[in-house]
Amino acid sequence: MELSGKHITLGVTGGIAAYKAAELVRLLIKQEATVQVAMTDAATHFITPVTFQALSGNPVFTDQWDARVANNMAHIDLSRKADVLLVAPASADFLAKLANGLADDLLSTLALARDCPLLVAPAMNLQMWEKPATQRNIARLHDDSIAILGPASGDQACGENGLGRMIEAEEIVAEVIAHFQPKLLRGKKVLLTAGPTFEAIDPVRGITNLSSGKMGFAVARAAQEAGAQVTLVCGPVCQPTPRGVKRIDVTSALEMHAAVLQCAATQDVFIGVAAVADYRPKNAAEHKIKKDGSAIAPIELVLNPDILADVAALPTPPFCVGFAAESRNLEEYAQNKRAAKNIPLIVGNLIQHGFGGDDNTLILFDNDGRLALAPAPKLELARQLVARIAHLLENR
Ligand code: C5P
Repeated sequence: MELSGKHITLGVTGGIAAYKAAELVRLLIKQEATVQVAMTDAATHFITPVTFQALSGNPVFTDQWDARVANNMAHIDLSRKADVLLVAPASADFLAKLANGLADDLLSTLALARDCPLLVAPAMNLQMWEKPATQRNIARLHDDSIAILGPASGDQACGENGLGRMIEAEEIVAEVIAHFQPKLLRGKKVLLTAGPTFEAIDPVRGITNLSSGKMGFAVARAAQEAGAQVTLVCGPVCQPTPRGVKRIDVTSALEMHAAVLQCAATQDVFIGVAAVADYRPKNAAEHKIKKDGSAIAPIELVLNPDILADVAALPTPPFCVGFAAESRNLEEYAQNKRAAKNIPLIVGNLIQHGFGGDDNTLILFDNDGRLALAPAPKLELARQLVARIAHLLENR
């Protein structure tokens, strides 16, 4: 599990989003984190400590003078045990206290006394969020290296619509998981392709393949977790965009080629994970081809541009990584592709082992030779690939 062995102190402040913190605790526990909840007095008006105690399996603290702590220093104890202090939801009032170093209740005292990183997920009405005072406080928290998760935009409990909603519990958990990943690509720009392409025959039919996009999206997430600025150009897929990743949707190989070449020259790394169609119909029919009983005219195919080879041929190319999905002779085909496309690293996988599924088996081929990664979930393999890329980049 992603958070095994991690101790998280969760602070809950007074706002209607406090009810979502219950789901957050459940999801953190599911990832095997130990969760200790501390609530402000206002939070207890929205949801009771009993709920958090039941979900976390730990007593909940609300009072600075809680006699359960032998030395009467709950504010110190709760942060010393924690790998991270997470405050979700974080109200406008709580952010103001944090920005100014106020410590007049258990949670604010605990935040000031902490010796671990602090992550906050703001939640408030959009007018409160937009007020200069709140924005000043947020800017200060940024300067103080406090991670601000969100807020999101959308419907609000007050009936208004706009920025200020707390990001969803799943997204907060993804941010906490990302927080614990080593920042091997901090400050680097990474561009990826993922998924299949779709080459139109007529307005409703086309040539495509069975790529799910899962591996490419996992690599995008792993690169983002490692601190990179990630752009993901993807063909038609049903995958949620990893938080913080810039996604560009395309359909055909020509569109993917154009989107990639537009920004490739300014990137540090390019990773071609997409299963790009090698050929496209020369002329797509303007209208749906009708079945009239006669044999259909042959569809003339033309070769698509090789996106990866074109990026690798730029005057100062990014560090280029290719994927070779093969059904046999993996080693030989992968090595040949690495040479033909003139790229430093190619990732081979047997399609029998990974296509469409959640797990995969990869072999990395580069100048140092061959590195086999044991079968694992795609995100885990993606993180190992990112670590290898970071290592090769550093020693380039
Ligand atoms: O040549 P082949 O399709 O086997 O090579 C696979 C690698 O090249 C993958 O990284 C894929 O994303 C990339 N590729 C590309 N443009 C193409 C064909 C493949 O970028 N037209």
